[in-house]
Amino acid sequence: MNALDIVVAKRDGRAHSEAEIRWLVDGVTDGSIPDYQLTAWLMAVVWRGMTEREIASLTEAMARSGETVDLSRLREPAVDKHSTGGVGDKTSLVVAPLAAATGLTVAKMSGRGLGYTGGTLDKLESVPGLSVDMSVRRFMEQAEQIGLVIAGQTAELAPADKRLYGLRNLSGTVPSQALIAASIMSKKLAAGAEGIVLDVKVGCGGFMSELDQARSLAATMLAIGRRAGRRMAACLSGMDQPLGQAVGNALEVAEACRTLRGEGPNDLHALSLTVAGLMHVVAGRAGRPAEVEAELMGAIQSGRALELLGDMVAAQGGDRGCIEDPDRLPRAPIRRVLEVEVAGWVASVDARAIGETACELGAGRRAKGDAVDPAVGLRLRAKIGDRVDRGAELAEIHARTEAAADRAEARLRAAYAIVSEPPVGRPDPIVIEILT
Ligand code: URA
Repeated sequence: MNALDIVVAKRDGRAHSEAEIRWLVDGVTDGSIPDYQLTAWLMAVVWRGMTEREIASLTEAMARSGETVDLSRLREPAVDKHSTGGVGDKTSLVVAPLAAATGLTVAKMSGRGLGYTGGTLDKLESVPGLSVDMSVRRFMEQAEQIGLVIAGQTAELAPADKRLYGLRNLSGTVPSQALIAASIMSKKLAAGAEGIVLDVKVGCGGFMSELDQARSLAATMLAIGRRAGRRMAACLSGMDQPLGQAVGNALEVAEACRTLRGEGPNDLHALSLTVAGLMHVVAGRAGRPAEVEAELMGAIQSGRALELLGDMVAAQGGDRGCIEDPDRLPRAPIRRVLEVEVAGWVASVDARAIGETACELGAGRRAKGDAVDPAVGLRLRAKIGDRVDRGAELAEIHARTEAAADRAEARLRAAYAIVSEPPVGRPDPIVIEILT
């Protein structure tokens, strides 16, 4: 076998055999296939797609490309959640402590920013001192000791995904159902949780803009997980506008902390209750998310969920004081408030443009190995359906330089559509569908 034949086969629309996929993934893992051939193959997959059988083989090979974790010896069954990625998506930072504070063990392996969407690891690393790099042994220990761990992919766990993820991010090859499903599910299977909840984003700020595509991606991932013996559930959630108000690493950590204090934006709060509720469903502790809503609200009101996030941050070397007082998180030197120029109603907020603007400010990566700026980003004051008066605050830009703020201002104004008539009907709910 050779890499060129595999690239050519996919370019011409042929399905790979299981042996070919295993050989390719071995070459990804040991570095013997160079970046340029892998990137060509990734682009061919974006255009040609993969069969269900190919996706299952790719997922399995990537999950086995490194160590796999056996969490079955933990006292409580471990649960995990993963989102397909969206703009302002800090749900994991709310949901993981919320689920842990209500009796579940949450052992989660997260990713970095991908394309114009942010990544949980980059957000967490905005807490000074915090490390997401840990050995499998340490991952297990922390899960056991405090019931909550969010770590990055070590070189040991799904290393093939780690390499492909980095290449996809920089080669325009993220939006492929096959690649997203294999990327997410290989990490989830390797990380060992018995129950897995998927949050599949639908809208221009995610990678699936149509409901049908999102449903099909969810079905593919649910089937892969069930075949591997995991208890699975998924929800489809809206991503036509950014989730919550904050977009950018430290700003999103601060918003997650506010939400865990019961003071967060409605959409993030509602989605977090649903996803945490589904984690109880896959753990066998509830039949539907609504059955544990009061318990989840109790963990917010008592401060227990926020305290657990602090425990996790401290266990991973971070400054716990930032969770108690998010004003201690890194701050950008320039803050510019954008005012509404013409009064009206917000008809749309282009989530993708907002994500790209945050990336350009420095919150995401443009090239392999780029550092992200933890402090920069956006705070969006107006959401779809809101009435906005002239002179009211539309958004706030957090930038490193005045020139960066100027560029962001122009893009941000273009991302908002403000119309003179109130929108007909109510905005779409944040949770569109639940698949258990
Ligand atoms: N999250 C992942 O881990 N991988 C993807 O491809 C998309 C979102």
